[in-house]
Amino acid sequence: VFDSGIGGLTVVRALRRRLPGEDIVYFGDTARFPYGTKSAETLVELALEDAEFLLARGVRLVVVACHSASSVALEELRRRLSVPVVGVIEPGARAVVAATQKHRVAVIGTSATIRAGAYERAIRKVESAKAKGQTGGRRELTIVAKATPLFVPLAEEGWVDGAVPELVAREYLRPLVDEGVDALLLGCTHFPLLAGVMGRVLGSGVKLVDSSEETAGEVERRLGKARRTKCEGQTGGRLRVYVSDIAPSFESLAARFLGESPTEVMRASVGE
Ligand code: DGL
Repeated sequence: VFDSGIGGLTVVRALRRRLPGEDIVYFGDTARFPYGTKSAETLVELALEDAEFLLARGVRLVVVACHSASSVALEELRRRLSVPVVGVIEPGARAVVAATQKHRVAVIGTSATIRAGAYERAIRKVESAKAKGQTGGRRELTIVAKATPLFVPLAEEGWVDGAVPELVAREYLRPLVDEGVDALLLGCTHFPLLAGVMGRVLGSGVKLVDSSEETAGEVERRLGKARRTKCEGQTGGRLRVYVSDIAPSFESLAARFLGESPTEVMRASVGE
């Protein structure tokens, strides 16, 4: 699993719940964080370096936990890598289409994610596949996409409750309520941490959709038979966390995203 930082540990958390016997190697590019402000061209380069780092550690499937990287680099990764690549976009799209009753959904993410438009394309694809199997008139799905970058530093600061995040959430999200959406896809690793305050601002009529569970399900399906045959050296449930910088705040932050303290944490450089 790789990510721009440690937010992707939310995906690891879901993976460990669903596949407790799997060994996981995680790479968080904390030294080059954030990804959400970078150009698509740079993101593709970074994603390839991150994936190469994991491949060198003998992984048999790569999960791109970062929504910004998934939005722009999946195609290139799939073309270049010799192992299956699972991103967060398609699982998230499936989850939000399943969650809406009114056919009106919203997607929030970093500027890079929203600019790429990958979520809209994936949601439209899921919706048209679903419509093919149905008879009768098809209702057009409305998608409202919005960049909400300030949620990232708020989550990193642990500022997930109180007046400031509430004000930010109101500014960003109230227009979505006015648009009448009933499902909101959290298109960034950091956003589930702010789900409480977002839920209060949006009200109970809007479902919050976190793609990490659906992504873990996709990994389980993709591993399929391979899951039952152990890799050489596989120990069962071991988590190794590599990061390109270990900041003083690392431990508390990692525990917040992972739900436990990672025991094996190492610093590693990539792309040199
Ligand atoms: N992992 C990133 C994402 O999901 C978090 C934010 C960032 O790196 O800018 O887009």
